[in-house]
Amino acid sequence: MLEQEILGMKLSNPLFLAAGILGTTASSMKMVARAGAGGIVTKSFSIEANDGYDNPTIVKIEGGVINSVGLASPGVEAKKEELKDLNEIRDKTPVIASIYGDSEEVFSDVANQTKDYVDAFELNVSCPHAKCGFGSNIGENPELTHDIVSSVKDNIKDVPIIVKLTPNVTDITEIAKAAEDAGADALTLINSVGPGLRIDYKTARPILNNVFGGIAGPMIKPIALKCVYKTYETVDIPLFGVGGIRTYKDALEFLYAGASLLQIGTSIMYEGPEIFKNITHDLSNFLEENGYKNVEEIIGLSHNLG
Ligand SMILES: Cc1cc2nc3c(=O)[nH]c(=O)nc-3n(C[C@H](O)[C@H](O)[C@H](O)COP(=O)(O)O)c2cc1C
Repeated sequence: MLEQEILGMKLSNPLFLAAGILGTTASSMKMVARAGAGGIVTKSFSIEANDGYDNPTIVKIEGGVINSVGLASPGVEAKKEELKDLNEIRDKTPVIASIYGDSEEVFSDVANQTKDYVDAFELNVSCPHAKCGFGSNIGENPELTHDIVSSVKDNIKDVPIIVKLTPNVTDITEIAKAAEDAGADALTLINSVGPGLRIDYKTARPILNNVFGGIAGPMIKPIALKCVYKTYETVDIPLFGVGGIRTYKDALEFLYAGASLLQIGTSIMYEGPEIFKNITHDLSNFLEENGYKNVEEIIGLSHNLG
């Protein structure tokens, strides 16, 4: 019912772990695979280790969280070992490496060093709280996005390239088209919204050490859905929908809007890793009860209702 084959990956269900949540160590990613995720996206990493920002880096808000982890990661050498350790799960649970950099060379270099251990790359050109030159500095600009994607595509021939987009732009379809024209095999929409701010009402101090951070969780779902819906009408490559998915009803909305695959981030903090089994169970039941034979029948359904 939920099986699909996309980008050469044979998937038992469409629900992936989103980048940055439980994706830092091989053991936590294996745990998420055992919990029933259809696939895994690692925490973003680059060539060099990055300490990120000082604590506090995450604060709960109504309907989600604000984070400024700042792309903290151990660098490609350490990450390679984690990825090798994941080889044993890859036949059942494909692994996508989320990578970042500040130039075409850095993206291609990280990808070259790790391409033997992953099923696809997700280029993070969309982090709203990355240091200048990284993250959404790239993904807000169609030319820069195009150049980075086409350079990685030139260098990495046999591993699919997915590009993760920021919603913090005037027209996300312009960036989506630039990525598709550059050869992207799929797109992930969306990275966190904002940045936003929370202030401690007792001390008047911003709560996050970095002051600002990216907003995620159920409160961003309408924005994420809009991005998927509009992009589905613009490009011909598969879309990963992410942003506030917590129940099978949220998953259905993203599939109807045009996402072929889905990712779950913040809701794991609230529901635990069982969220993968709960949503796949409820989604299968819904499809069966409504006479569908396969999840593919409902992808983009909202666009075809006349
Ligand atoms: C604590 C935290 C860390 C994150 N780290 C990354 C990251 O390393 N790379 C990335 O592309 N997105 C990162 N994200 C964004 C998520 O992958 C996702 O796009 C976003 O949170 C929206 O999905 P959600 O509402 O299900 O959390 C992070 C989000 C959170 C909350």
